[in-house]
Amino acid sequence: MYVLRHGWLTFPHILQLFKLSVNVEEREGRDIEGHEKFLSRLTSFEADLTLLLAAVHCRPDGVELLTDELDRLCEFILCKENEERWKQWGSREDIKQCSEKIREISAHSLCLVEKMKALRTYTEQRDANLYFSLLSAAVKEEKEYVCMGPNAKVLFIGAGAFPVSALTMARETSAEVLCTDIDGEAIRHGNKLAQFLGLQDSFHYSDSHLRNPEFLAAATHVFIASLVPQKLEIVEELTAYVSSDCKIVVRYGNGLRSLFNYPLDVGLLSDWEVKSLRRDRCIYDTIILEHQKNVAGSAV
Ligand SMILES: C[S@@+](CC[C@H](N)C(=O)[O-])C[C@H]1O[C@@H](n2cnc3c(N)ncnc32)[C@H](O)[C@@H]1O
Repeated sequence: MYVLRHGWLTFPHILQLFKLSVNVEEREGRDIEGHEKFLSRLTSFEADLTLLLAAVHCRPDGVELLTDELDRLCEFILCKENEERWKQWGSREDIKQCSEKIREISAHSLCLVEKMKALRTYTEQRDANLYFSLLSAAVKEEKEYVCMGPNAKVLFIGAGAFPVSALTMARETSAEVLCTDIDGEAIRHGNKLAQFLGLQDSFHYSDSHLRNPEFLAAATHVFIASLVPQKLEIVEELTAYVSSDCKIVVRYGNGLRSLFNYPLDVGLLSDWEVKSLRRDRCIYDTIILEHQKNVAGSAV
């Protein structure tokens, strides 16, 4: 599928890269009328992301270009008019197929961007300041999560190479944090980043949440990243291991948000008390799952 991923670029591809700088309103989709135009906008996201992913190692500004395109996809998702369009046409087969392709490419792009950002951060010390300003922004955004005691044990499933929220929690609360990822390269970068930030004592990685049953049994919070596809299966697996006090925070995106998040059928979580977190201008949704007997209005 990712024909261009392996780094070679032909002249037409380079020409197309220059054409990417189109008008922002047009890219966000505010001017779209009709199903054909909506589909064509989605198709152009798919094409542009594929192209930029291929070019990422060929240009010095490759990561920035790819990041900008992912930002445009986020703006597209947050645009109210596009929500309405999705309600009208989102169930059409052509739209669904194109959306799934965009999600695969955007997830792959984000994984790559995170690895390259982590690499830059721990190899070029000058990026550390930028990183710390990012951290403090994340602290504000994730304030409700950071409300944990020093004895918290936090598991992050699908943390990636640049796990801002997880590092923030380890730094701000001195909680013990275990990240998991199925991608060994993401683990390698994430470990080096944690070492660079001096968090190696409280911050660790593993290739599977099932590899650490003792940690799971003692975990106070489990987070499942939005870009982990198998959310329901993982929640079911966790049920057998986590304590009855453990809170499970699941990020996901349905409908238009599924362009850049894996969806979740919340209705299937009948064994859990489900609380939704409301956030403005957030490209994913968050729910907190608690064992039913424990729901006494406690904070995350
Ligand atoms: C882009 S990344 C990082 C997460 C992102 N910062 C977020 O909050 O969604 C998503 C990561 O999830 C990992 N992943 C996907 N499925 C997984 C699974 N079943 N278990 C653990 N990690 C998984 C991928 O390898 C990838 O590194």
